[in-house]
Amino acid sequence: MTADDQKRIAGEAAAELVEAGMVVGLGTGSTAAHFVRALAARGLDIRGVPTSENTANLARELGIALVGLDDVKAIDLTVDGADEIGPGLSLIKGGGAALLREKLVWEASDRCVVIADAAKQVAHLGRFPLPIEVVRFGHPHTGRRLADIAAEFDLPPPRLRTADRGVVVTDGGNVIYDLASGEIGDPAALAGALKSVTGVVDHGLFLDLADEALIGTDGGVVRLTP
Ligand code: A5P
Repeated sequence: MTADDQKRIAGEAAAELVEAGMVVGLGTGSTAAHFVRALAARGLDIRGVPTSENTANLARELGIALVGLDDVKAIDLTVDGADEIGPGLSLIKGGGAALLREKLVWEASDRCVVIADAAKQVAHLGRFPLPIEVVRFGHPHTGRRLADIAAEFDLPPPRLRTADRGVVVTDGGNVIYDLASGEIGDPAALAGALKSVTGVVDHGLFLDLADEALIGTDGGVVRLTP
């Protein structure tokens, strides 16, 4: 089974959790896209809250009714991918630069289910560079403050994310610094330190947010709880 097959079966299993009438948070990335497709195929009367413009476009193409986060009091269920799944369902997210809207939607949700292929499960968070979303105004200064914090945790300085067309700008108009660490010894302490920097909007550490994980493996979908 390829990684994409594993992502697909996890997405399909998550789509089975959705019931008619629900407000559903729609995650971002290739795994979440499998979920969105499987959800659309069920033809249920639901409303989706997208976590990115990309996901909103996909959901619209598939005929899923969309509402904004501002328009709902609560979200029944959010399903989203992750870049890493560590102990206790601690997560690194934001590889697709959608971490801020993702976290806002997750925090407004009664139940959060993370879906992934088997390679995303790790013994310690940190192999995947941690995305940090930073306001554009003065971001080189914020970047230097982040480098100081990284040094306190014995980590290298974070790097501004760029792509073919230059600096990556998020849906919220911010930039991303990626902190490549190898291993994050104390994710909660790092999360707190990063949030203390004024220019930091948020980071991709999702701690104590996932209620369960559905992991696609060659032997089928495995369900994990914290
Ligand atoms: C988007 O910003 C991320 O949080 C994604 O959920 C994460 O990068 C996983 O992406 P894939 O499902 O494409 O691996």
